[in-house]
Amino acid sequence: MNRAVKTRTAYFCQSCGYESAKWLGKCPSCESWNSFAEEVIVKGNGKQAGAKTGVNRVNQPVKISEIEFSPQYRISTADAELDRVLGGGIVPGSLVLLGGEPGIGKSTLLLQVAMQLPLKILYVSGEESQQQIRLRANRLQPDLNQNEDTSAKPDEAPPQSGMGASGLYILTETSTQHILKQAEQLEPQLVIIDSVQTLYSAHIESTPGSVSQVRECTAELLRFAKESHIPVFMIGHITKDGLIAGPKILEHMVDTVLQFEGDRHHTYRILRAIKNRFGAAAELGVYEMQGNGMRGVNNPSEVLLSQREEALSGVAVSVTLEGIRPMLIETQALVSPSVYGTPQRSATGFDSRRMNMLLAVLEKRCGFRLGMKDVFLNITGGIRIDDPAIDLGLVCSIISSHEDIPLPPHCCFAGEVGLSGEIRAVNRVEQRIAEAEKLGFETLYISRYNRKELNLSRYKIEVIAVGKIEEVIGSLFG
Ligand code: TYD
Ligand code: MG
Repeated sequence: MNRAVKTRTAYFCQSCGYESAKWLGKCPSCESWNSFAEEVIVKGNGKQAGAKTGVNRVNQPVKISEIEFSPQYRISTADAELDRVLGGGIVPGSLVLLGGEPGIGKSTLLLQVAMQLPLKILYVSGEESQQQIRLRANRLQPDLNQNEDTSAKPDEAPPQSGMGASGLYILTETSTQHILKQAEQLEPQLVIIDSVQTLYSAHIESTPGSVSQVRECTAELLRFAKESHIPVFMIGHITKDGLIAGPKILEHMVDTVLQFEGDRHHTYRILRAIKNRFGAAAELGVYEMQGNGMRGVNNPSEVLLSQREEALSGVAVSVTLEGIRPMLIETQALVSPSVYGTPQRSATGFDSRRMNMLLAVLEKRCGFRLGMKDVFLNITGGIRIDDPAIDLGLVCSIISSHEDIPLPPHCCFAGEVGLSGEIRAVNRVEQRIAEAEKLGFETLYISRYNRKELNLSRYKIEVIAVGKIEEVIGSLFG
């Protein structure tokens, strides 16, 4: 039966991609409200998605021991932070999604990586013109032109950084069919797509950026990556709620999801692996946005601590661990009498519900009258920390501000605070101690429950093990 092209519309949840024949107020799959939008789907002669790329090969089952593999074959990105977050470099044939808010520096990071790598790279942009990309490239590497005409001056010393982007090709295109055709001709070693929301596939007739388009384009790129073994990086925008725009479904399809975070007004950016089929998730890289691109920060503790001369009240240093990397960060608190009826509570870079919990513990277990006080918390550097080990440091900065007594210099904290005011153990405490010691701290407060596993004679830093929040406060504020 050979039917004519059939037009069909359906409703899709813009958050998770759930398909429904009629409009629904609440998505049965992800339970978000008012997320359905109508999209037109044109099924090209009723064929299945897999048939579009002309895959005729039939795969046979193979014994797992007979599958060929090359253990550690990865392409280094020449960027230590990105390599670490990817789990040691790019895996051939992988599809990596890089998410982040607009203006955070996604295009800058990937263009910069593409310019550093001595590989043949296809950078596809659906957002910017060739001239705009060239302008950005010049900003990242002002001597780009001089590098290119080395043939004119053969005596000159080679450029220090990479190959001067001589293997980087820019394509401004949004149709996946055209992009894949060009990629097959060019045979690059890496493809970068900026961004998935601008792509459209001719197989589906809905606007670029809609769930069905994003999903179909990702599926096409995924097939391309797996068949050609060429790794593909995709940039994806993030919605206001912090989700990768459109479908959460993308996260299931790709191999690795990286998220670029940070406050646009601060210079530091955090690159986080949310999902990684080829490495540890929760791995983290720190960048600093400079006038000429992103610079990896390999000693984040040193930059995140403010260089202060005098002791200030309300400031405490905590040792956190992101991924496998310990980092010292500074927390600041301001506690002041509330002028309005309702006290204000605000936390930047920290979960405000957790802050309220800590305030309640202080009120109930230690008798501090914080109920009528405004409390503001801030984690310096504009980064966000979820590690509960900063609880103890936060509590100490709150008390320090409340009492207006600065904490002793060269003292830092790593402990989780429980509801009854007990200090709970944290993971990888040795690494935290070593990092605090490396940065010249003299005292570290940890949980009594962490003490057992430790051989303290190895460290120069004084490690004080405490069991209850009252003990810490007693020892610090008398
Ligand atoms: P961009 O990479 O365009 O962000 P995204 O692709 O995530 O939307 O980054 C844009 C911002 O970065 C812009 O505000 C300017 C700033 N920037 C620098 O500070 N230094 C640089 O070298 C470059 C290229 C951009
Ligand atoms: Mg961009």
